[in-house]
Amino acid sequence: MGRSSKDKRDIYYRLAKEEGWRARSAFKLLQLDEEYHLFQGVSRAVDLCAAPGSWSQVLSRKLKGDGAKNSDVKIVAVDLQAMAPLPGVIQIQGDITKVSTAQEIIRHFEGQPADLVVCDGAPDVTGLHDIDEYIQAQLLLAALNITTHVLKKGGTFVAKIFRGKDVTLLYSQLRIFFPDVTCAKPRSSRNSSIEAFAVCRNYCPPEGYVPNMSNPLLDHCYDVDFNQLEGPNRVIVPFLACGDLSAYDSDRTYPLQLDPEKQYSYVPPTQPPIHPPYEEACFLKKHNLLSKEPTPQPQQPAAPGDPPQQQEDGALLPPCEDELVNALEELSAGPGGRG
Ligand SMILES: C[S@@+](CC[C@H](N)C(=O)[O-])C[C@H]1O[C@@H](n2cnc3c(N)ncnc32)[C@H](O)[C@@H]1O
Repeated sequence: MGRSSKDKRDIYYRLAKEEGWRARSAFKLLQLDEEYHLFQGVSRAVDLCAAPGSWSQVLSRKLKGDGAKNSDVKIVAVDLQAMAPLPGVIQIQGDITKVSTAQEIIRHFEGQPADLVVCDGAPDVTGLHDIDEYIQAQLLLAALNITTHVLKKGGTFVAKIFRGKDVTLLYSQLRIFFPDVTCAKPRSSRNSSIEAFAVCRNYCPPEGYVPNMSNPLLDHCYDVDFNQLEGPNRVIVPFLACGDLSAYDSDRTYPLQLDPEKQYSYVPPTQPPIHPPYEEACFLKKHNLLSKEPTPQPQQPAAPGDPPQQQEDGALLPPCEDELVNALEELSAGPGGRG
């Protein structure tokens, strides 16, 4: 597989590199903004689950303008993973489900609540849908809990959501804090993916609500089948496709030469992750050190004159540089498989 094949298959991955974004996810936030004007009047923002940093780049460009110094703007970015520095963005390496991380974020906003909190958090997908959806929901609730500490009244919270079977429960939890909740699907988020974004506006906590990191967010529980509720008890939020309808379709493959006037040339990723969790696996693979269980071969009767069969212990994977480079690039330009 050549380096350009991913460019062909994923137009947003390619455009992200060409436009200098660290991940294709940048387009999701940009398209959400086209619909909701998220950045209007915003000078303080939090980017939860920010690595490798394309949403922080968008926030920085939109709130500060290109290269302009704007001392009123504060952007705090948080992720489990280390993230290469971005000028003007305060970075915290931490787990958003931990109280200590939340406290660190809150410290940065003391006395000055944020206008906008965004969260593109996604767990490492296991492939077991119920577990993936559950962990994703827990990330969203952790983000919501942090949001209740830092967001100003009237502020906006945008978070990735998996439209799985318990999504109605999440909507009902969000609606406790936000009268206006919409489920938005940007053009750059693949139709084949259950990913969408909850856009929650006009933050308005219940009367007397005191933010508390150990809150189970008003004890909604998974025992009730929220999908069975009817009438006013059932929370149904509007669903909105966003991004210009003539924008590229993220599920399509496009030719490399999009513009007949402009020759295609390969562009490397803008900023590969600095210490990704798969770093060691890549090193082992690159140096042919990944061992694999030998597959038992059916025994062939030895023909007269054959050399004696050699017993091999732990056959090594063949080196596969292209595959490795592709995997690294795919990961460094953000998850391609999920959104
Ligand atoms: C889809 S990526 C975010 C991409 C990012 N919005 C961008 O534009 O570059 C999801 C991120 O969620 C982070 N994440 C997952 N669980 C987390 C947690 N408990 N605390 C902090 N970050 C977490 C992962 O480390 C990963 O970087």
